[in-house]
Amino acid sequence: MKKLITGLVLLGVVATAVAQKDDSSNDALLSNGGIESLRGKAQLSETRESDKMKRVLKDREVVERNYVHQPPVIPHQIRGYKVDLNSNKCLSCHGWKYAKEVGATKVSPTHFETRDGMTLSDISPRRYFCSQCHVPQVDAKPLVKNEFRAVESLSHK
Ligand code: HEC
Ligand code: HEC
Repeated sequence: MKKLITGLVLLGVVATAVAQKDDSSNDALLSNGGIESLRGKAQLSETRESDKMKRVLKDREVVERNYVHQPPVIPHQIRGYKVDLNSNKCLSCHGWKYAKEVGATKVSPTHFETRDGMTLSDISPRRYFCSQCHVPQVDAKPLVKNEFRAVESLSHK
């Protein structure tokens, strides 16, 4: 028992020492113009190695929405889906003309409305660049804890 206690005390001393060392090296980093962020520590004068690209989730079921008016997230990859002046790849599946055939959700009527509330016969310019609002998802751990819950009426549990 005595040994165990001595062991634990020693462990405590070592842990404190390590913690203090960490603290002081952190101080040194920060006072030399370094920064510490959610991505870790870096010196401003050095180019930090970038994180590995996260893998985009492929072809999933539609992801449930968490609040009314949420732009639904994209449950598939979008690499190579071009949206420019001449063409919009997204609309070749999500436009009303093709959606049924492809089995995609059609863009909702709000996507035809101008900001003055006029309904156009084609997609409204302010809804043309889809990825301004809709984004694919990656399987990433949250950087900070988040306890967000959907409102009761939209809850799926
Ligand atoms: C090859 C056809 C195709 C293309 C191109 C395509 N999608 Fe999709 N998309 C689908 C299908 C199929 C689904 C799943 C639909 C379903 O199950 O209701 C889907 C789902 C979605 C959803 C989820 C809808 C919901 O109700 O939750 C969004 C948002 C979406 N796509 C946006 C986009 C955007 C933005 C682009 C262009 C960058 C794009 N898609 C390109 C076929 C396509
Ligand atoms: C300015 C933001 C914005 C842009 C740009 C935008 N959307 Fe949306 N989208 C939304 C919002 C918000 C919703 C959910 C509420 C609604 O339907 O308006 C939505 C809903 C959808 C849905 C689901 C419709 C339904 O009936 O459930 C699809 C599919 C979709 N958008 C596809 C697209 C595609 C494809 C484009 C590009 C041509 C696009 N969106 C551009 C904001 C946007």
